[in-house]
Amino acid sequence: MANTTLEGQRIGFIGCGAMARALAGGLVEAGVTPSHIVASDPFPAARSQFEDEIGARTTAHNAEVVTASDVVILAVKPGTVAGLLAALDDSPCEKPLWISIAAGIPLETLQSGLPSGARIVRTMPNTPALVGAGATAYYPADSVGEADLVLVEGILNVAGWCWRAPNEELLDAVTGLSGSGPAYVFLIIEALADAGVREGLPREVAQSLATRTVFGASKLALETGTHPGVLKDQVASPGGTTIAGLEQLEAGGVRAALYNAVRAATERSRALRDE
Ligand SMILES: NC(=O)c1ccc[n+]([C@@H]2O[C@H](COP(=O)([O-])OP(=O)(O)OC[C@H]3O[C@@H](n4cnc5c(N)ncnc54)[C@H](OP(=O)(O)O)[C@@H]3O)[C@@H](O)[C@H]2O)c1
Repeated sequence: MANTTLEGQRIGFIGCGAMARALAGGLVEAGVTPSHIVASDPFPAARSQFEDEIGARTTAHNAEVVTASDVVILAVKPGTVAGLLAALDDSPCEKPLWISIAAGIPLETLQSGLPSGARIVRTMPNTPALVGAGATAYYPADSVGEADLVLVEGILNVAGWCWRAPNEELLDAVTGLSGSGPAYVFLIIEALADAGVREGLPREVAQSLATRTVFGASKLALETGTHPGVLKDQVASPGGTTIAGLEQLEAGGVRAALYNAVRAATERSRALRDE
């Protein structure tokens, strides 16, 4: 097994949807045996898709997952969480380590739905987790010990990169930046592709060029660790094409627009928490 941290761990998923399948798929790739995974969902089609893709057992009963697992990953839509936890009252919920990936659901809500002292970790993943290139931040309740945190990172790392936030409030900023961020980048890709078509490129080629440019630029920044401003300057030669393009981006307020997008999404996450 590549990832010994997860060895022998029985991992359960409540919810058999897109994120559950992405994480479970990553766990199997990391060497977790499918027989050590179990998932629940009321929706038969979601269960059979999970079984087909992951090769693990599923059930319609969330309580079975709680009883059979060392770690339970709460992978249902945010609005479903409170009711679901309330329905688990008779289950041994104090036993497993709980990892919630439900966007915007605070620890307080999770703690009030689970027995006191339950070990709970709130996470904020993002959609690239679906291809193992996610960026996830997490914040553990005080009841979570060091050994649990090693396990949490072992699980989150199968979906990409993860970071432990020093306080829960910062998860709102994470939501505004990396949680919603993929949508900002998809909008940029779409706009670049449209411009390529405007200049005569076939749609498919324009889309591939735009997508691969964003992918390549990110990979270059990640792998070199060089500041993006320096990498930008390396492309922009005096009086050249790039500086002409950059001038339009500055004139169009792109920097401010992206900045304000993160601010607005962060403020919305805070507002959602208080709603
Ligand atoms: N998708 C992403 O890219 C992404 C990124 C970051 C965070 N997240 C978070 O991850 C969570 C899951 O998102 P997702 O995209 O995977 O959603 P999804 O595909 O809709 O999966 C959720 C699954 O849970 C099922 N479900 C509903 N009520 C349930 C219950 N009481 N017990 C057990 N299962 C139940 C749903 O069935 P029905 O369809 O019948 O309701 C659905 O199959 C969300 O909280 C989201 O905020 C998602």
